[in-house]
Amino acid sequence: MLGSVLPFTEDVADRVGEYCETRSTQIPDALRKHWEYTRGKFSDADKMSSRLQGAWMIFTAKDRKPKRVLEIGCFSGYSALAWYEGTKDTQAEIVTLELSPKMIVASRKAFQEYGVEDRVKLIEGPADQTLKTLTGEFDLIFVDANKDGYENYVKTILDQKLLSPTASFCATTVLFARGLTIGPDCAPWVNDHVRQYWLNCGQALDGFNTRLVQDPRVHVIVLPVFDGVSQIKWKES
Ligand SMILES: C[S@@+](CC[C@H](N)C(=O)[O-])C[C@H]1O[C@@H](n2cnc3c(N)ncnc32)[C@H](O)[C@@H]1O
Repeated sequence: MLGSVLPFTEDVADRVGEYCETRSTQIPDALRKHWEYTRGKFSDADKMSSRLQGAWMIFTAKDRKPKRVLEIGCFSGYSALAWYEGTKDTQAEIVTLELSPKMIVASRKAFQEYGVEDRVKLIEGPADQTLKTLTGEFDLIFVDANKDGYENYVKTILDQKLLSPTASFCATTVLFARGLTIGPDCAPWVNDHVRQYWLNCGQALDGFNTRLVQDPRVHVIVLPVFDGVSQIKWKES
């Protein structure tokens, strides 16, 4: 295959997602329950990662074996629970950042209910401020918050050397802004009431993607999975 993305229709894309999910190791029942709960409870539940993304997080954590995980954008705690699940062997510390008071309450409740407070630490407040207070290194960093903040977050992560030089793995997600990063005509299915929001995200993310690949300190790969994922690692000195 010389191209990188199959030309799926909307309907086929749904079937592909379902096919991949059912042929992947299933997320644990507790995580599934929290995902279903979040989907039913919050009107903006589409901010949450998919079940397959949760399975990818668990797989990635088991593969990378991080000792410290940093997540920017907690929402209801689903992804932090996935990082927790994937790091049962390494007993990693998981630091997750969240700004919204409503989601802070929801995720604290979930962390208590699922008994993960021994390793999951939620830091409240704007991520740009919190990042400046963090010290030490993280072996796995997941950036999944406000899209107009990605450029600043990754710059701070690199400038402050929060990303460990060894076994480092930093992923940013939702890079395609539902397709609108690629072009305003690329996502006719995005509803009018959220279209301007995603167009603005797409513009910010295009700037982030374009400038990051020019940063001489890092290797970057942008992958056409989910809503776009980039993986970032330090170049060998
Ligand atoms: C896409 S959701 C995160 C989804 C979650 N990681 C998951 O996989 O289910 C983004 C979250 O980032 C939070 N957020 C937005 N701006 C933020 C900021 N400046 N600082 C910290 N969190 C922020 C939002 O409140 C929202 O809960």
